[in-house]
Amino acid sequence: MDTLIFRNLHVSVDGKEILKGVNGTIHAGETIALLGPNGHGKSTLLSVIMGNPKYRVTDGEILLDGKNILSMHVDERSKNGIFLAMQYPSEVPGVVNADFLKAAMNAHREEPIKLFEFYKEMEKASSKMSIPMDMATRYLNEGFSGGEKKRNEILQMMLLKPSLAMLDEIDSGLDVDALTMVSQAIEEMKDAKRSFFVVSHYARLYHLIHPTRAMVMINGKIVLDGDPSLIERIDHEGYEWIQDELGIQIKKEEMTMNSTSIGTCGVKESLNRKEEK
Ligand SMILES: Nc1ncnc2c1ncn2[C@@H]1O[C@H](COP(=O)(O)OP(=O)(O)O)[C@@H](O)[C@H]1O
Ligand SMILES: [Mg+2]
Repeated sequence: MDTLIFRNLHVSVDGKEILKGVNGTIHAGETIALLGPNGHGKSTLLSVIMGNPKYRVTDGEILLDGKNILSMHVDERSKNGIFLAMQYPSEVPGVVNADFLKAAMNAHREEPIKLFEFYKEMEKASSKMSIPMDMATRYLNEGFSGGEKKRNEILQMMLLKPSLAMLDEIDSGLDVDALTMVSQAIEEMKDAKRSFFVVSHYARLYHLIHPTRAMVMINGKIVLDGDPSLIERIDHEGYEWIQDELGIQIKKEEMTMNSTSIGTCGVKESLNRKEEK
């Protein structure tokens, strides 16, 4: 990949507009940090680049080396080198982890990979991610801990060798050792032709993977795109200053919880109790 450009992207889900004219360019060799308050559209942007059909692109384009990829299905985008490590990887009972990985690798090749070669590669990547080989025979992500799911996403990245790797909150659920492992895997995969687009709330991940640029998404738009020093500033000061400097009102995350959920009832109950006292 030389460049991925997204231009004037407007995206809706279930009739609600989430992305409201997003612009940006990713060049080969870059590591871009994508920051922003929760619920402002970061995962939506990554999902739309990957081609998740749940999201409806109502305007704009995504150009991969000049070619509009919006009409491509997710598998075709994957074959073109795009990869997404999801914020919440799905559990897929019935699909064996190793079979899934082999099928994914084969889908990217002309000739199917030889079994011996596959196991060699898988063993190498698994040991780097501290994933025991018996996890290969379990169902994809089923019963995996949060950290195991995230390490399994990185394992997939290592085997598929994408040219654009998008990592959505890959550090959530990782302990310090796993964070170091994941960061090392990213660092080792870096080369002039590969780009990383990385969503995280934490400077400690970014300290380990050294972004070349930072973007900030607020209210469904990229409002800042520049130097990675933005990360430090946000880490120390939060997002309030952007509100003041750019004169924008940051929308608070909407409660998407069902109004009768246990969570809301619990909160209401404890508030009522406080009021009674
Ligand atoms: N399937 C969906 N139905 C309705 N709203 C959704 C759906 N998926 C995401 N959203 C909403 O889109 C907004 C942006 O979400 P997201 O892209 O996940 O934000 P971020 O990753 O920045 O936290 C949120 O308000 C979220 O509730
Ligand atoms: Mg998200």
